[in-house]
Amino acid sequence: MAANEPIGVVGVGWVGLVTAACMAELGHEVFARDIVEEKVRSLSRGEVPIHEPGLPELVEKNAGRLHFTTEMAEVADRAELLFCCVDTPPTYSGDADLSRVEAVVEELGRTDRHALVMKSTVPVGTGRAIQRRREGLGYVSNPEFLKEGTAVHDFMNPDRVVVGANHASARFGERVAALYQPLGAPVVHTDVASAEMIKLASNAFLATKISFINEIANVSEEVGADVDEVARGMGLDGRIGSRFLRAGVGYGGSCFPKDVQALKQLAGNTGYHFQLLTSVIEVNELQKRRTIGKLQKHLGSLVGKEIALLGVAFKPDTDDTREATSLVLSGRLQGEGANVRAYDPVADADGMLGGARVCESALEALDGADAAVVVTEWPEFAELDWEGEIKPRMRVPLVVDGRNFLDRDGLRAAGFTYEGIGR
Ligand code: UDX
Repeated sequence: MAANEPIGVVGVGWVGLVTAACMAELGHEVFARDIVEEKVRSLSRGEVPIHEPGLPELVEKNAGRLHFTTEMAEVADRAELLFCCVDTPPTYSGDADLSRVEAVVEELGRTDRHALVMKSTVPVGTGRAIQRRREGLGYVSNPEFLKEGTAVHDFMNPDRVVVGANHASARFGERVAALYQPLGAPVVHTDVASAEMIKLASNAFLATKISFINEIANVSEEVGADVDEVARGMGLDGRIGSRFLRAGVGYGGSCFPKDVQALKQLAGNTGYHFQLLTSVIEVNELQKRRTIGKLQKHLGSLVGKEIALLGVAFKPDTDDTREATSLVLSGRLQGEGANVRAYDPVADADGMLGGARVCESALEALDGADAAVVVTEWPEFAELDWEGEIKPRMRVPLVVDGRNFLDRDGLRAAGFTYEGIGR
């Protein structure tokens, strides 16, 4: 049963493409549809438009099983399980924009042969609403928990697979679970609303962990503790766990900011004030801005100061700059009168950072700078020759390490002023 179930994928963004490539790797014929013709053309030529380690190799290896098209009818004709991977961006009200999901449902029309397998992150209640409107259409909530930069590995090695299906779609739920069976992960079968909630609650919890450790970091700075040591000591407690306890300049990306906001909004729509999440969001916003104070502590006024931002992507191994701390920092620094130069090894920062100068290399960004701010922990920043090559070129040898990632002792010994987070 498991292999050779033809799979439909609707929406070939990041999640859709990873899903398509991994399902093909598991042996299934995959029919993937996107409305953007250019994207379909380039994918059909084997060109992968996003930076995701391992993905181009997987697409190439499984090219024979991967079919890209702009035609929904072609996908619906060939596959019955249709993974819905379209994006659901937030609207001004904070609600998710479900128009792309709704367009897919409209296009499918009346059918009892197909199931929509929802991978897009949607508010709790979306599945029920769709099923009410489209009687007969199967519906399975199958949220993704992929991290950008390790998405292929995460897909193939999941901690768990969540399959939410109501009674009428139980048979489709079984078929979806069977697809993941070779991966050997526990499958959590739930109703649709609970599966939808698992996704939002998981991301909100991880974001809470990050905001929590960031506040511990901020207090540690005042009382002389080292947050990395604190996190190590806490994390070994199995009840706490060591992952997502890295203090830094705040979380960004396409998921955490959006999903935390979405869960808060969902609660608010029912009349419940989700106080904890309100704080998680506020702590994160303040954390993104704390670097300004650290720079001022050493440089005084930032008017006319040259500040180098190292890293623009919201985290390493991705070109994604959505909700990245670099964007807030660039704006805030320029608001303080500083001149910003920025460099990222992969992300295309042109036009993203207001009036900042986008540089071709870390060295170019650091040349003549009054401070270096590490925003993204790209490995190449640790490998720079800070002592020999960079120190002589910087106007002031000041490093704010927003990810506690550089060799603090080495930098200090080389004569740098080093500021980390919570240490
Ligand atoms: C996240 C979830 O992990 C994933 O399950 C979900 O499906 C999509 O959202 P992603 O956004 O790709 O994945 O990145 P993740 O590795 O979770 O990091 C998110 C942000 O948190 C990054 O800005 C990262 O720098 C920050 N972070 C992460 C920390 O500041 N500290 C940590 O300890 C971990």
